[in-house]
Amino acid sequence: MYQTVKISDDIWYLGSSDRRIAKFENCFPVPDGVSYNSYLVLDEKTVLLDTVDHAVSGVFLENLAHLLNGRKLDYIIVNHMEPDHAATLADVLIRYPGATVVGTAKTFVMIRQFFELNLQGKIQQVKEGDTLCTGRHTFTFVMAPMVHWPEVMVTYDQHAKILFSADAFGTFGALNGNIFADHVAFDRYEISEMRRYYANIVGKYGTQTQTLLNKALGLEIEMICPLHGPVWRVPKKIEWLIGKYAKWATYKPEDHDVVIFYSSVYGGTENACEVLANALGELKVRGIKMYDVSVTDVSYLVAEAFRASHLVFAATTYNNALFPAMAHFIDDLKEHNFQNRTVAVMENGSWAPVSGKKMVEYFSAMKNITFLGQTISMKSTVKEDQRTQILALAEEIAASVEEADRR
Ligand code: FEO
Repeated sequence: MYQTVKISDDIWYLGSSDRRIAKFENCFPVPDGVSYNSYLVLDEKTVLLDTVDHAVSGVFLENLAHLLNGRKLDYIIVNHMEPDHAATLADVLIRYPGATVVGTAKTFVMIRQFFELNLQGKIQQVKEGDTLCTGRHTFTFVMAPMVHWPEVMVTYDQHAKILFSADAFGTFGALNGNIFADHVAFDRYEISEMRRYYANIVGKYGTQTQTLLNKALGLEIEMICPLHGPVWRVPKKIEWLIGKYAKWATYKPEDHDVVIFYSSVYGGTENACEVLANALGELKVRGIKMYDVSVTDVSYLVAEAFRASHLVFAATTYNNALFPAMAHFIDDLKEHNFQNRTVAVMENGSWAPVSGKKMVEYFSAMKNITFLGQTISMKSTVKEDQRTQILALAEEIAASVEEADRR
């Protein structure tokens, strides 16, 4: 049965959520599912903005037919060709063959890659600043390459002052009846899933995201409609959201917090991290987090690294190299252009510890990384010598956090 939500005078939310999916992009665990958003404008001409993933295409097509109620579909604006949004494009075109597809030059290259469709005479190729008038609404197209694919654009509705923002401002997590961000306690729970989405999906493309933010700041925006997660419409919340993106896109930490990431085989490295964490606690450092990188999925680790200012990496040596889960994690950070952090390193190895050297090499290749202290090196377990070094490191970290708070 159809189910649609009106979000403005003549605009409907036409998305759906998938709660069965295990991993988004077959990569990122989504225990709370994910929503695929699409929007329909019923103006003098009818306009569909993006489609949905195959997983929810059945209900989507039913909703679309219900809302069109016999009208023809005039335009399909394709802001992003990734199949979580474009997989149903061909199905829509089969049902509504008169529709004109609007997209960038690269959009049409990708349509040919993904589909066998004859779109001759049915496309409108747009570039930065081009507009489409459909009656009351005039849509302006704003190019947003690499947020998150090269063909991406966002669409600004001048009439309703809505930014249809593609992947930008999206979040993991199904929508459960509350379509609007102001209907959920977003800053309590959903924010961590939005951060995880940004850091892992878009995080590599901070420069391109900054360019898009600068363009968005020149627009009068009353609503943001992303392709995942809730719709934003409260001015203060939109301001808060853009502030978060401004931090993430420039790789600046949100919180002056300490996060300890460790790998441990027989408990020696974990014990060193417990000694450090407790010493930090005694020094009144608050909000300390510890993660075993073999236990927590790397997408959560990347998100926590994007959030916090002071990061400790403690790892075992394995095959005369860095422990695999830690190597994967730090490599992932490097691939996401990670930068601007204060880092401390601890290593372990029962005969020839080298994991510290490897981690220092990794972080030295990233931009603006400040190392605290020397690498603390242990063989198998923490001895009194290392305990003394760990306590000194805790003092140094606590002082650095305090200084960051003062700045
Ligand atoms: Fe949600 Fe880049 O697709």
